[in-house]
Amino acid sequence: MAEHSGQIPCHIAIIMDGNGRWAKRRGLPRTAGHAAGAEAFRRIANYCRTLGVKYLTVYAFSTENWKRSAEEVSGIMKLLGKYLEEALEDMEKNHVRFRFFGDLSRLSPALQKLCQDAQARSADYSEVQVNFCLNYGGRDEIVRASQRFAEEVAAGKRQPEELTEELLSSYLYSANVPDPELIIRPSGEMRTSNFLLWQSAYSEYVFMDVLWPDFQPKDLDAAIAEYNRRNRRFGGV
Ligand code: FPP
Repeated sequence: MAEHSGQIPCHIAIIMDGNGRWAKRRGLPRTAGHAAGAEAFRRIANYCRTLGVKYLTVYAFSTENWKRSAEEVSGIMKLLGKYLEEALEDMEKNHVRFRFFGDLSRLSPALQKLCQDAQARSADYSEVQVNFCLNYGGRDEIVRASQRFAEEVAAGKRQPEELTEELLSSYLYSANVPDPELIIRPSGEMRTSNFLLWQSAYSEYVFMDVLWPDFQPKDLDAAIAEYNRRNRRFGGV
């Protein structure tokens, strides 16, 4: 483990990008890239636990990803199912708490059940919390939160002027999770792609050239070092 002289962020979020290109470079099907991406996730989630990161949020499937071929979508869903089954088995050992951000109703009943089981069975763990963004979109999240608030206003339970930033936050998927200090996007793309739009208001973004399946603990160390350099330059009184 690398020496970290600076602060370890409490919450790190990652856009796991570049699986397709990783596969293409090797002449492999895109699904093989996602399988390697799932391994990278495992590696980095474990490393976050070692470092003492409290929350890790990953973009596993966006509301836009349904536009991909049926074969690719089902490949990603299969990987998620396999990963969650294994995680349920390892749960007692790893003490990882799982939460899911997104509209799960569009997932298969079997996958929904795995998500519910993982969430329920890990609810008391506090070592590290992994938030899987599944069928997630940042705009969609804000629209849903607004709808729920509007319903409560219509039902006479709330007044419009009660709405504050804190109250709106409590209707989001991320309720009770502190905002991420650091958001990492590997693969050289420099976009937010509808990820954590509300929660990223003050986050530091670190964009990296490495493709997600190649992402190693040393790359996370480099992102954290960059985060600390920026903090030192702009932060603190
Ligand atoms: C983006 O790369 C990645 C995704 C849309 C899917 C992410 C899914 C995984 C990492 C597997 C999920 C499994 C677990 C257990 C976390 P891309 O396909 O857009 O890559 P490209 O930009 O190179 O085409």
